[in-house]
Amino acid sequence: MAERKLLLEHSHETSFRTRAGYEQTGGYEGLKKALGMERQAIIDEVKTSGLRGRGGAGFPTWIKWNGLPKEKKTSHFIICNADEGEPGTFKDKELIEKCPFLLVEGMTIAGVATQADAGYIYIRGEYLDGARSLRSAIDEAYKAGYLGKNIMGSGVNFDLYIHMGAGSYECGEETALMSSLMGERGMPRLKFPHAPLPTISGVFEKPTLINNVETYCCAPFILKNGGEWYATLGASTKNSRGTKIFSVSGHVKKPGNYEIEFGTPLQELLEIAGGMVDGDLKFCVPGGSSVPMIKKAEVERAIIGYEEMSEVRSMVGSGGCMFFNDSTCVVTFTWRTAQFYANESCGKCTPCREGTRWMVQILDRILAGGGNPGDAELLQQVASQIDGRSFCPLGDAAAWPVAAALRVFPEEFAYFIENGSSMVTGAKTLAMAP
Ligand SMILES: Cc1cc2nc3c(=O)[nH]c(=O)nc-3n(C[C@H](O)[C@H](O)[C@H](O)COP(=O)(O)O)c2cc1C
Ligand code: SF4
Repeated sequence: MAERKLLLEHSHETSFRTRAGYEQTGGYEGLKKALGMERQAIIDEVKTSGLRGRGGAGFPTWIKWNGLPKEKKTSHFIICNADEGEPGTFKDKELIEKCPFLLVEGMTIAGVATQADAGYIYIRGEYLDGARSLRSAIDEAYKAGYLGKNIMGSGVNFDLYIHMGAGSYECGEETALMSSLMGERGMPRLKFPHAPLPTISGVFEKPTLINNVETYCCAPFILKNGGEWYATLGASTKNSRGTKIFSVSGHVKKPGNYEIEFGTPLQELLEIAGGMVDGDLKFCVPGGSSVPMIKKAEVERAIIGYEEMSEVRSMVGSGGCMFFNDSTCVVTFTWRTAQFYANESCGKCTPCREGTRWMVQILDRILAGGGNPGDAELLQQVASQIDGRSFCPLGDAAAWPVAAALRVFPEEFAYFIENGSSMVTGAKTLAMAP
């Protein structure tokens, strides 16, 4: 298998960022088809496609689209989560900057299917080029009658807005994102079953659909070519269909975004990215910083798919795939990751607010050469007190990488604690240590 470019096929062509260029590649055929279909038929097409959310959790997309009330009694909204804060992930950046019409068309299709009055693109504050690219695409779409009142003479109205975030990882969590969009502090809210689902009461307490950038970008292809066609991609896997963009980084020769079909071996993704630079593969974090790391042996047998990755005790996640060579000190890597989550914890609940800080403090101590016997066990205990006990999934995301590092490389923690230095000769530790 090699790259299978669907979403990124024309990303390198600057004309693809204009409406005329986009239409020349078959752009807007999906929307035109959708406008001639019953709403439920659009949702059924997405169901047939087997599309699952690309934001990290892999939730079946059609279930969300189907969840908004069929009998419209109030305003409906859709949101695109373009916050992209997970370390190692930069695929949405490329889609927004280089394929803005894919997102605009995909959201319009979703808007038609869910009877939404408007859509909001909540975009990471640093993505200024992406916001400009989207602004220009949205303006062109309005001028051509693809947005606004009476889209293509169909009687459907749909508006699209851009909202810039302000640099908080937690604002990528969907309930915190909605709070932020409403002008409140970016903190998460109670979730189902303790509160209604966003599809019933979301932003502005109205029925709301929220999906990732890449998820929406798949919709034009599903509508244009049919759900059955889309489902042929990735058919060798248990339940993962279509393509997935991986942001490959770390010690690889050609870091970048690569789109592959589900079912591709992880080892092949490494080869597509040019293989390792300077040394042998030590471990990989396949789906963004929160997903558990795996060793070289697991990389060699891992197949990219939502269920398949769990067989090697990791995840597809958001597709931020980082490969590390044998010069990497796992203790230092874990400290750096833990520090990120401690900084980004919103402070609302005790296990995450306190636990993430404790994990950093224990790792600070170990890295400074003052580790105590039992520190690895203590670290493990703190991680397990956060996991599953926090108010929102950021707590779990903070605990998993620490717990995985302790499980996969226990000898490196033991060595550092006993000797006050890294087991990895020449590893960059002191420069990064507090
Ligand atoms: C702390 C945290 C940060 C998140 N950040 C993002 C993000 O930047 N982009 C994203 O699409 N989803 C993010 N998610 C997942 C969203 O909450 C949500 O599940 C996703 O946007 C749903 O879209 P999907 O069904 O298309 O995957 C985050 C979740 C958590 C807990
Ligand atoms: S787990 Fe708790 S403290 Fe951490 S980000 Fe979520 S609500 Fe905030």
